Amino acid sequence: MDQLKKKGNDPHHTEWAVEAHGLVKTFGDNRAVDGVDLNVRAGSIYGVLGPNGAGKTTTIRMLATLLKPDAGIGRIFGYDVTKESHIVRQLIGVTGQYASVDESLSATENLVIFSRLLGLSRGEAKKKAADLLEEFGLTEAAKRPLKHFSGGMRRRLDLAASLIAQPPLIFLDEPTTGLDPRTRAQMWETIRRLVKTGSTVLLTTQYLDEADQLADRIAVIDRGKVVAEGTVDELKTSIGTSSLQLRVQNPLDIPRARQTIEQVLKVSSTISFEAGRINAPMLDVDRVTDLLIALRTAGIHLTEMSVQKPTLDEVFLTITGHGVAADEESNKAEGARA
Ligand SMILES: Nc1ncnc2c1ncn2[C@@H]1O[C@H](COP(=O)(O)OP(=O)(O)OP(=O)(O)O)[C@@H](O)[C@H]1O
Ligand SMILES: [Mg+2]
Repeated sequence: MDQLKKKGNDPHHTEWAVEAHGLVKTFGDNRAVDGVDLNVRAGSIYGVLGPNGAGKTTTIRMLATLLKPDAGIGRIFGYDVTKESHIVRQLIGVTGQYASVDESLSATENLVIFSRLLGLSRGEAKKKAADLLEEFGLTEAAKRPLKHFSGGMRRRLDLAASLIAQPPLIFLDEPTTGLDPRTRAQMWETIRRLVKTGSTVLLTTQYLDEADQLADRIAVIDRGKVVAEGTVDELKTSIGTSSLQLRVQNPLDIPRARQTIEQVLKVSSTISFEAGRINAPMLDVDRVTDLLIALRTAGIHLTEMSVQKPTLDEVFLTITGHGVAADEESNKAEGARA
């Protein structure tokens, strides 16, 4: 706490875009956010990962001054989210599960209004709106009122609106939920560009591959608590073993291949077979050289060989004790409805 205060005295030189310490939010008897700590370095992309109802949106809303924490401290570039909320609001952009655009106006009109509110001239505002609509593939829909937009189009417009000012810190709450793969990739590019040009991004997602692709660091939230934190690689390493996969040219060699793997890797019961492929855990990736030599000596020829780190899905499953698959399904359905 003292450390936070000290940094707060010199807010302009803080290396932290976000510091949260012990954030709590209770709705009735539901502790939606139950003591969350987060530190997001300025200039990075930070991913907050968790299943439905984990407390992601509630955490963001507190950090974005939209909801008052019941306990704990939140600072944005050293400014207190409760006591200095007026300054914090000038440093952040928020998009996501609470879009704030006017339904009856067109996409262009919405962006022009945002731009004008931020002090751009009429000409600049029109140009900015046209540029952003083109970048997000919305030019054709530009004149349509928002109430006729699909869920994906809304999300794109929402992010476009937040880019007008390009604030130092941007909160993106599930920026790609319900988007088609092409638009999703485009969104990732835009997010990377935001960070390259000086912003910090804190995003929430239920998609493990999204966090894997984008985030420098990740916090996994489950039931209102941070259950794991680190770089993607650290999280993957923390749950241990890589896995070896190989396929032999001649299926008759499988039993001998298995024997060889057992001898070299000193594993047995955990070796599995699937559609002609052999999978085995690898505690020490370095052993792969020994294994290949042993297989060649035994005259066993391979058609395929790979060593893989665990996926984030496996990490998530290990950490929370439950998968995200069911949540992602309901999420897709939600995206389709939107
Ligand atoms: N305004 C509110 N009033 C009452 N309960 C709420 C409110 N907002 C959130 N909750 C509850 O707090 C918990 C956390 O919700 P939150 O929206 O933060 O989760 P989330 O991680 O963002 O989930 P999702 O992935 O579905 O967006 C849930 O149990 C939710 O029902
Ligand atoms: Mg949410």
